Formats: sequence, C-alpha cells, structure tokens
Amino acid sequence: MSNAFLTGGSSGIGQEIAQYLKSIAMLVDSPTRDELNLFDNLSYTDLSRYDYLFLCAGVDRNGRIPFIEQSEGDIIETMTVNTIANMRLINRYIKQRHGKWSKIVVIGSTIVEHVWPNFVTYGTSKVALECFIDSLSQELNSKNIGFTQIHPGLTKTNFNKNRGNVDKDKSTELYDHTPHMTTSDLLPIIKSVIEDRAHLITKVTVSK
Ligand SMILES: NC(=O)c1ccc[n+]([C@@H]2O[C@H](COP(=O)([O-])OP(=O)(O)OC[C@H]3O[C@@H](n4cnc5c(N)ncnc54)[C@H](OP(=O)(O)O)[C@@H]3O)[C@@H](O)[C@H]2O)c1
Repeated sequence: MSNAFLTGGSSGIGQEIAQYLKSIAMLVDSPTRDELNLFDNLSYTDLSRYDYLFLCAGVDRNGRIPFIEQSEGDIIETMTVNTIANMRLINRYIKQRHGKWSKIVVIGSTIVEHVWPNFVTYGTSKVALECFIDSLSQELNSKNIGFTQIHPGLTKTNFNKNRGNVDKDKSTELYDHTPHMTTSDLLPIIKSVIEDRAHLITKVTVSK
C-alpha cells in the first residue's frame, strides 16, 4: 500500500486531494497547522516512509492590494509558506528517501503563466517555486524521483478568507462573477499523477 505526506489538508484543494487519496486506500498523513506550521521553524519531520509528498498548503496574506501597501510581515509569510517551506521539506524528503521511488507533487498557480498587478508577492512566490522545481528536477535527473507541478486556475475554496485584508463575509463574492473551478475538477489529474509510475507528467495547468 502506498502512503503520502500532504500539507494543506485542512481545507480546499489539499483537503479534496487527501480525501481522494484515502478513497483509493492510500495512507495519508496530513499535519494540521498546529502540528506543522510552515511559517515557523519546521519541526523535525521524518518523511522517509512516504512514496508521495503532496505540497498543497499556500497563502496570499495580502493579495489584491498594491505591493507598497503590503506589510513586511505579510510579504515574509507568503514567501515563506509558499516557497521556502516547500524547498525545505523537499530537501529533507529527498535526503531521507535515499533514492527510493518517490513522487513530489506541488500546487502552484496559473499566475506563473501571466502575472497580474496587485498579486506581486503571491506571484513571486509561485514563480520562484516553479523555478525551484524546474531546476531541481534537472539537477537530480533521476528516474526514481518525480516532480509534478499542478497549476490551478481560480478554484472555489477558503483561500480568500485567509487573506489578512479581506472582509471574510465578502470573501466568496469573487466567485459570483468570475469563471472558476471546484476542487473536484482537479481530481482527474491527481488520478493520472498517481498512475504515472514513470514520472512522465511534469507540469499541468488546469482552469476553467
Ligand atoms: N483557490 C484558488 O483559486 C487557487 C488557485 C491557484 C492555486 N491555488 C493554490 O492552491 C493551494 C491550496 O489553496 P486553497 O485554495 O485550497 O486554499 P485554502 O482552502 O485556504 O487552503 C490552504 C491550506 O494551506 C494551509 N496553510 C496556510 N498557511 C499555513 C501555514 N503557515 N502552515 C501550515 N499550513 C498552512 C491552510 O491551513 P489552515 O486551515 O490552518 O489555514 C490550508 O490547509 C495553495 O498553494 C494555493 O496557492 C489556489
């Protein structure tokens, strides 16, 4: 039986993926933010037994406002959670796996394809993450360690509620007038990624 370590499983896209993995009898460990806060000194995590590493957690602390109005704290939190924590977990995971068959799946964003004003920090964090995965997969050039980047377009989740500057009651209004996916729209690609034992799927964009 395969097993997976997954971040961001408490909500939205990560929660949908975790439920799917469990439905196909995969063992899934998904720490809560209290157990593993990605904006913190990551507590020691033994990742050696996991065939899959799903990195779904992410945040945009101050999206939709001009960069110069963003606080330094929010800039650091967005970059740390979306980029640096994932780099640290992947560094740890690869060292601990000792070359055993492994698949790393990261949730990016379509923002890597066309950047927008007022998403400067979030866009930077996701482009940096994409650059990191592209570079590392070339550097390792391993048949045993596979990377898949999934870049979703707008998806209805709690993501906007977690923004520091957004009125939580109005956080879902965006979905009333913008084409968007639901988290289950991502499941066909997750299924393909699980079946892809040869690591052929490296990057996928999914949007409405
Ligand atoms: N929704 C979209 O339109 C969209 C589009 C493209 C890409 N994405 C990406 O999809 C991923 C999932 O987002 P989502 O839309 O599902 O949003 P979400 O419902 O807000 O889920 C975000 C997840 O990240 C976790 N998280 C945030 N900060 C954390 C921290 N410091 N430590 C540990 N966990 C933390 C949250 O935990 P808590 O429950 O504790 O807050 C939650 O489980 C993110 O990487 C996001 O950038 C989303």
